[in-house]
This record gives sequence, structure tokens and C-alpha cells, in this order.
Amino acid sequence: MAERETWATRLGFILAAVGSAVGLGNIWQFPFKTATTGGSAFVFVYLVAALVIGLPAILGEFVVGRRANINAIEAFDRLKHPAWTVVGALGLLTGLWILSYYSVVGGWVIRYIAGSATGAYFAAPADYFARVSMGWEAIAFHAAFMALTASIVAFGIEDGIEKATKLMVPSIVVILVGLAAYAFTLDGAAAAYSYYLSPDFDYIAANLESIVPFAVGQAFFSLSLGMGAMITYASYLGEVDSLPADGSLIVVLNTFVGLLAGLVVIPLLFVQFDGIPDTAAGGGPGALFVSVASALADLGAAGQALGVVFFGVVLIAALSSAISLLEVVTSYLVDNYGASRPTVAFGFAGGLFAVGSLSAWNTAWLGWFDDLAYSVLLPLSVLLGVVFVGWVYGPEAVDELKKGTGGGETFATAWLWSIRTFVLLGVFVTLYLGVSSIFPAPDIPLPAI
Ligand code: PHE
Repeated sequence: MAERETWATRLGFILAAVGSAVGLGNIWQFPFKTATTGGSAFVFVYLVAALVIGLPAILGEFVVGRRANINAIEAFDRLKHPAWTVVGALGLLTGLWILSYYSVVGGWVIRYIAGSATGAYFAAPADYFARVSMGWEAIAFHAAFMALTASIVAFGIEDGIEKATKLMVPSIVVILVGLAAYAFTLDGAAAAYSYYLSPDFDYIAANLESIVPFAVGQAFFSLSLGMGAMITYASYLGEVDSLPADGSLIVVLNTFVGLLAGLVVIPLLFVQFDGIPDTAAGGGPGALFVSVASALADLGAAGQALGVVFFGVVLIAALSSAISLLEVVTSYLVDNYGASRPTVAFGFAGGLFAVGSLSAWNTAWLGWFDDLAYSVLLPLSVLLGVVFVGWVYGPEAVDELKKGTGGGETFATAWLWSIRTFVLLGVFVTLYLGVSSIFPAPDIPLPAI
């Protein structure tokens, strides 16, 4: 087999990993889950989860990927633990499951680029969202997004992925900061900041069971964990890179973009609806689109131009995430069966288009796919990975984590113990709460002893 490509530069890897992490999860999903799951309480639990569970877990995926130097499925075989291939396989399935509806939202974004150019949504942003988010038009734009994703993956890792993400991260930060500053100047935004940023710990304690699965699931989703994506990306990494340094940077940047998106969407919702609206379009999956659309409408012609740029950058963010989902299965079939990249990429994209059409037809399906991903697939997949890294691969994982850090023994050992203990426990509890939200336990009194 030919020598595998590696990232041209360390920056190339970081940008690609950030490109995978920063996506619709941060910009579209984080603000609306915040709005529907208790505001600052959700934000607080999310931040804790990203740091305490997300960071150690992402390092675990990096370790597996770099050590194995191959795609997420075969990685476990290469590490001499073939039974754990189930982790890679589940990750691959979870990623495909998610991509099916991720692409629908990506389609909305394309639609909003066009809508900004013509000012189509200016008159009635909420009605516009309700019209374009479901049905035949949504299916058509979902097809367009899937086709774009497949085209990039078909061209291969260096050309497609690395280039696309270089500009995206800085641009998205600049535009979000600008919009957040604009929102700040509006009358009525003040109330939003306390809703968004000052956690009420009594409320958190009383509602922990319902907040945790969403907030931890959101951390996994937005860090691209449990889908084989980070394993696959790290497999292209050289040994001189410090995984803890890269991982921390990725987690911080990713979290920062989510928080920033919230600083745009939440104040805009408060200004327009006097609080979080109780409608699916305003307070649910439409939150980003409806709130930003009305702000742009207020800006008139400048808003049209800004809208094209804003949704354009969001599209790049969405694409760089979507390609990392499709890349997992593609690199597996290419590495292992010598399949042709374009055939695999377009073949899977076609199948996922069909499945995702359900979500494009009605957002109730989208919610159902999303719930299952959050509550069961993601935590299960992350849990198995954490058990593997902590309790099966243990010492070798420590060895791999140390490489490129110039020492780092103490840190690596502390990391291993975090994985073995509280990370594992946290993910387990998340999975338990997620599953029991779908299958509530029967309410039967136990016998008195
Ligand atoms: N993390 C991406 C986002 O926030 C979604 C994603 C998950 C991408 C897993 C790749 C792999 O949008």
C-alpha cells in the first residue's frame, strides 16, 4: 500500500479538525437548544461537559487515530483489539445517521443565501422559514447540499478539506462578532443576556436530569465525537504534534464559536419576540434563521449583502463538517477495498439523500432523527470508545498521548485516570438519562423489605 498522506502542516490538521467541529452544531443547534432547554442552565452544563468530558474524550480519539494511522474502522484491528471494531462501526453508523438530516439544514442554508440575495425573506421571516424548511423545496436544496459534500470528498483529503476550511474559521468569527455587537445595541437585548449568561443553580439542580442528556449530547455533537471523524483525522497526523495542545485549542475555539452564535441569536430573539418565542420556527430549529433574517431585514440593502456573506460562511462551516462525516466511510472503503473515492462518496451521498428526505419533508422527522442521535447513538458510541481507551488500551494510550509533548508523563497519567473514572461515569449517566427519556422506566413501587 502506498504511504498515506499526512497533513502538510500542523495548522492543516488543526484547521481541518476545527472545520469538522465548528459547524451547524455550533451556529444553528447550540442557540436553539439553549433557547429550548433553559437558557443559561443549558449553557453552564454544556461548558462543564465540553471541558470535563469533551476534552479528555477528544484526546482519546486522537490517540487511537494517530497510533493506528488508519481509518476509524480498521484502527482497532491495527491496535490488536479487533473486537473493538464495533466502536468504529457504531461511530460510522452514527455519523451517517446524523449526516442524513445535517444535510437538510445545510440545504436551508443554501436556500437562505439565495433568499438574502433577493431579499425574499425580508417581509415575513417566520413565514418564510416555515415555507422553505419543509416539503419539496427543502428536498431539492437538501439534494444540492449532499451533492456539494460528495464532490469535495471525491477530490481527496488535501485538496478538498484543507483548503476549504482555511478561510472559514476567521470569517465566521468576524461576522458573528459583528452581528453580536449589532444585537447588543438594540432595545430589549439586555434581558437576553441574563437569560443566556447567568446560571440559576437551583434551577439547574432541579432540572439536571433533563438538561444533562441535551447538554452533554450537544458537546459530543459539536466536538464531532463518537463518529469516527476525529479518529480518522488524527490518523493523518505526525508524531511531532502535541495532542493535548491541539485538542485544547480545538475545544476552546469550538466552544467560543457556539457561545458567539448564542450571543447573536438569543438577543435577537428577545428583541423580536420579547423573550423566547413558543413556536417551532422562532424558538426551535428556525431560531437562527428567523432571528438573523429579521435583523438583516432591518438593515435594508446592506442586510441583503451581509446575508449573502453570513449564510455563505455558514455554508462553508456546514460543508467542512459534513465532509468529515462522509470522509469516515469513504476512507474506510478506499483504504480497505481499494474502492474509488468518487464512487463511494457519491454512492453514500445518494443513499443518505433518500433517508434525509424524510427530515426535509417534515421537521418532525428531523427532530426524531436528532433525538435518537443525541440520546442514544452518540453517548453509546462515546461510551464504548472511552471504555476502550481507558480500560483496554490504557498504558499504550498514555504512551501515545505523551509523544510530541516533551515529557508530559504526569499529564498523560492524569488524563488516563480521568477517562477511567469521571469521564466514563459522566458518559454512562448521559446515556442512561437519554435512553430513559425515550423509554421511561415503569412507575411501579418496589416491595418493602
Ligand atoms: N461537529 C459538527 C458540528 O458542530 C458536526 C459533526 C459531527 C461533524 C461529527 C463531523 C462529525 O456541526
